[in-house]
Amino acid sequence: MLGNFTFCNPTRLHFGEDSLEQLRSELSRYGKTIQLIYGGGSIKQNGIYDKVVSILRGCGKTVIDDGGVMPNPTYERLLEGAKKARENKADLLLAVGGGSCIDYAKAVSASAYCEGDPWQKYYLDFEEPTCRLIPVGCVLTMVGTGSEMNGGAVITNQEQKLKIGHVFGEELYPKFAILNPRFTMTVPYRQMVAGIYDAFNHICEQYFSGEDDNVSDRLSEALMRSLIDSSRIAVKDPQNYEARSNIMWAATWALNTLIEQGKTTDWEVHMLGQAVGAYTDATHGMTLAAVSLPYYRHILPFGLQKFKRFAVEVFRVETDGKSDEEIANEGLCAMEKWMRELGLAMNLRELGVKEDMIEGIAKATLVMDGGYKTLSHAEIVQILRESL
Ligand code: NZQ
Ligand code: ZN
Repeated sequence: MLGNFTFCNPTRLHFGEDSLEQLRSELSRYGKTIQLIYGGGSIKQNGIYDKVVSILRGCGKTVIDDGGVMPNPTYERLLEGAKKARENKADLLLAVGGGSCIDYAKAVSASAYCEGDPWQKYYLDFEEPTCRLIPVGCVLTMVGTGSEMNGGAVITNQEQKLKIGHVFGEELYPKFAILNPRFTMTVPYRQMVAGIYDAFNHICEQYFSGEDDNVSDRLSEALMRSLIDSSRIAVKDPQNYEARSNIMWAATWALNTLIEQGKTTDWEVHMLGQAVGAYTDATHGMTLAAVSLPYYRHILPFGLQKFKRFAVEVFRVETDGKSDEEIANEGLCAMEKWMRELGLAMNLRELGVKEDMIEGIAKATLVMDGGYKTLSHAEIVQILRESL
């Protein structure tokens, strides 16, 4: 049974090869000063920077450069960006990049006029913003996080060795998002597959919780099947527009809040992955891949019917003459086979984790209670050990 919910997603999304053209009309809604947020330089190499800046200048905007945002943006960098936005009185924060740039833009928006310490307020106390916010818009260049159509903003505090996400409300969703699948064609292979797995795992996090038959889970199954099919094409032919565009759109729906409506959700794989990220700065999707199977195998007995359904509906496992346990386990084996085809990180050592880091990572892992089993500290340590 679906529970009560209110659904609103306020992001206006422009999709397709010609979608950057829509930036002009979007810009007409905002003042003159645009803080242009981008990463380490990929957009300068592939020409997206020139295209965006030429539209900004053509619309008479003043561009405040905020380039060099790192993957897994840090708290230190957030404070610099917030200062820049405040001092320049930015009217719009325009992020051109992947989840790191878009998350950073949302965090800058909530921090520029924040009274007090944004890390304490948003990331430790999970308070909502009470200050003036700066509108955020984005041009997505890397697929996976869903940040283009949600309120999530993940920041790493290197000093405290914590990577935490704040899920802001509607007012901090991007006002607009521009998604051109062609812009993602230059993403390196490893980032492409990490992004695909990130999107897939977002769906798993919402799917592996609860036992009811509901439309949210059926949508999830369709999205997972589409991602698997398209990813198998994209790994062989990364320039395949049909596959890349399907992956891009599926990844947005994976985390724009639709498929969580009316049901419980888990998110423990993300908590494990984020703690690993805080210790290693590894690519987000890879941290999830490395811990997923040990986690799912651990909780399978507590959510057996859902894992069986996953095997049948998502990986088309044959059921004849098999027990529920056998079917459910075959589903995870099929998932493992697919993950290996993609070339994902299948253990934590590949990401630089050493035995003596396990205890610290386990302590930094937040425990969620929406999944099939609420983990104890000892179970977290065990799952991390099995992931090594
Ligand atoms: O920095 P540049 O030079 O642009 O290179 C980036 C970066 O090195 C490169 N890249 C992006 N677009 C490219 C490209 N290279 C070539 N051509 C292009 N078109 O890709 C690298 C990774 O970019 P990044 O933005 O870090 O990746 P992603 O989109 O995976 O974002 C990861 C961050 O998002 C957070 C993660 O924790 C992590 O900090 N997440 C945000 C979520 C949300 N807002 O809801 C949810 C997710 O679960 C995730 O936690
Ligand atoms: Zn994720």
